[in-house]
Amino acid sequence: MKNIVILISGAGSNMAAIVKTAQREAWPERFGARVAAVISNKAAAAGLVFAREHGIATEVLDHKTFASREAFDAALAQLIDRFDAPEQPVLVVLAGFMRILTPAFVDRYSGRLLNIHPSLLPAFPGLHTQQQAIDAGCRFAGATVHQVTAELDHGPILAQAVAPVLPGDTADTLAARVLSQEHLIYPRAIADLLLKM
Ligand code: GAR
Repeated sequence: MKNIVILISGAGSNMAAIVKTAQREAWPERFGARVAAVISNKAAAAGLVFAREHGIATEVLDHKTFASREAFDAALAQLIDRFDAPEQPVLVVLAGFMRILTPAFVDRYSGRLLNIHPSLLPAFPGLHTQQQAIDAGCRFAGATVHQVTAELDHGPILAQAVAPVLPGDTADTLAARVLSQEHLIYPRAIADLLLKM
């Protein structure tokens, strides 16, 4: 069984979309894969409640209790590696995980570390993507699923979805429209990758 470990920091709506799709589409039977754990760097992340209610193992690893980024990432890798074995490889899915990862962490899970970013990369990496799209006068915004590489919000693109920027949009209204697209493309991109693992 392949083990999907999802990392979150907040609402976890992408995580919930992945969990619901995995259930609806019977991923354990179809892809030999299950969502094995949800890890948050914030104890108050609302997504943890959803995960627990769905019988998924949860862990909290508070980055503020670590002296360095390297120490936090090493502890995170230790947690993740509980779900990694030659016959049970782990797929690490960043879903609103608002931490920059060290090159050592990225290398360790190279090719099996995914992220979703709320812009049409390579446009608008980083934060405040929807405000940047509005300020730039973009007619379309969107989201990107990509393999994670050492450079923030870069890496091979696996899927994208487009959402229109409508007159009167605020960053929040646009983010909500993009988020509903994220919920469709992230589970699909993961399923595609599972078939290749
Ligand atoms: C999503 O829009 C995701 O694309 C974004 O955070 C939101 C998390 O929502 N991620 C990033 O900005 C990463 N750079 P969720 O917790 O409801 O899935």
